[in-house]
Amino acid sequence: MSARVIAVVNQKGGAGKSTLAMLLAGSLGDDGRRVLVADADPQNTSLRWAGAGEGFPADVEDLSGEEGKLHKHLKKRLEAYDYIVIDTPPAATAPVTASALRIAHLALVPVIPSPPDMWASLRIREAIQAAVADKNPELIARVVVNQAQPNTVLAREVLALLPEFGIPLLAAQLKSRTAYRQCAALGAAVAALGSRAALAHFEVEALRREVQFLLAV
Ligand SMILES: Nc1ncnc2c1ncn2[C@@H]1O[C@H](COP(=O)(O)OP(=O)(O)O)[C@@H](O)[C@H]1O
Ligand SMILES: [Mg+2]
Repeated sequence: MSARVIAVVNQKGGAGKSTLAMLLAGSLGDDGRRVLVADADPQNTSLRWAGAGEGFPADVEDLSGEEGKLHKHLKKRLEAYDYIVIDTPPAATAPVTASALRIAHLALVPVIPSPPDMWASLRIREAIQAAVADKNPELIARVVVNQAQPNTVLAREVLALLPEFGIPLLAAQLKSRTAYRQCAALGAAVAALGSRAALAHFEVEALRREVQFLLAV
């Protein structure tokens, strides 16, 4: 079957796009899937992450030069992979974001639950709606709460803003964890950290399963 494509997008830098893309890709790879991370951001965080160690369980390709032709390039990769995860730059209106959203089955929007971050993320909703209206009516989208602080008043207030955001929430969330930064430093997926990162592992597995369920055909 042709690859299922996940675009990780947000207008906001630092929201956790690369972290989410690499944790998800690593978990899918450790689950035995053939995974490509398409690094479409000139900052090349994903490429550096995978290059920081040995044996990251997914391929990572630098596609930051493709810009509006990204979807054409990725079409040639669809048969070789089960999942393609696109890590995008923080640019809602850039041609590369439109190109990623054109080929994606699922758009994931990582959002840090603080009001300025949420306001900055509103632009990406328009980009997703434009992709649906234009070339990709089947595209689905989910907000992923990143650096979650469950059970705080702020978290509740911020989450109450989400209906206004207009994109449903993924049930799985990522908390702020040193383990995720260690993964980037070691060039690893979360499973490689072993039992010291059991909670992180569990959290990423839940996210992976929910994404796989959304993309099941
Ligand atoms: N859940 C998390 N726990 C700990 N650190 C995180 C988490 N998400 C992101 N970070 C850190 O925040 C910074 C920005 O994350 P990154 O994934 O590079 O964002 P983006 O790709 O959206 O710019 C990085 O230093 C990353 O290690
Ligand atoms: Mg990034």
